Amino acid sequence: MKGGIASARRESEDLRSILRAVYQKGGGRGLHIRGEERTGWFIVRRQMSEDSGSAGDMSLLCLGILASGSGTNLQAIIDSVERGDVPARVGVVVSDTAGAQALERAKRHDIPHFHVDPEAFSSKESYEAALLSILGREGVELVVLAGYLRLVGKGLLTAYPGRILNIHPSLLPAFPGLGAVGQAIGYGVKVTGVTVHIVDEGLDTGPVILQEAVEVREGDTEETLLERLHIVEHRLYPEAIRLIAENRLVLEGRRVSILPPGERVKTNPGSATPTAARN
Ligand code: GRF
Repeated sequence: MKGGIASARRESEDLRSILRAVYQKGGGRGLHIRGEERTGWFIVRRQMSEDSGSAGDMSLLCLGILASGSGTNLQAIIDSVERGDVPARVGVVVSDTAGAQALERAKRHDIPHFHVDPEAFSSKESYEAALLSILGREGVELVVLAGYLRLVGKGLLTAYPGRILNIHPSLLPAFPGLGAVGQAIGYGVKVTGVTVHIVDEGLDTGPVILQEAVEVREGDTEETLLERLHIVEHRLYPEAIRLIAENRLVLEGRRVSILPPGERVKTNPGSATPTAARN
């Protein structure tokens, strides 16, 4: 993982100096930058309240959350972490969307948060190099997509092999891509559901970690069905993160096995499986 981040940084000396300037200005973790840093590359925002200076428990699995929108899944993860249900910490939240509610949620919980504007980059590679610099700087070990409306590219996948999660509102492989809830209603299925999976280069094609069915009721609209799907999502996503934080997942081919409570995979250095996420 480190090698991936290092090489992404090497590719972009300019970007590195921009980030160095941003961090130095604020003094590193717990820095206080208000407003907006506009550079030739991208717009970065980072806001923390005056009394937030704690780096948190560094022994916990460090999550980096990418979100484009309302961030209800982000909120569920933050709440689970704060309750102590999941041995992890949210190290940083990054959004590709200015004004995303997800950034507001991060701010409310004093979590470092950035808006990185993809339009300010000439390529997906340079955009993802910016993301990697932020994730690497915050010590992120597991990337969690929470309503992140972009296909993850090679840069992120190489730097975080098997360490990027996504949640999707259908029982994959049914109804991948955007509008999964509408697709399910339109098709007339009686059961749909939620999938948490490892991200690969495809669109919602990676190995499945957890799935749960949700009944489609007579008269359901996208809104009513989504409401029930969200209830499941907000339970399932923290649960999947907990399994990874506890080293209880084993990936063979595209099959993910879950070890019983109390058991854990020991060390698996160099493995591209989520079991290596903490090693
Ligand atoms: C969720 O329904 C998730 O399944 C999909 O995007 C939506 C994000 O919702 N990937 P939110 O931003 O977490 O509220």
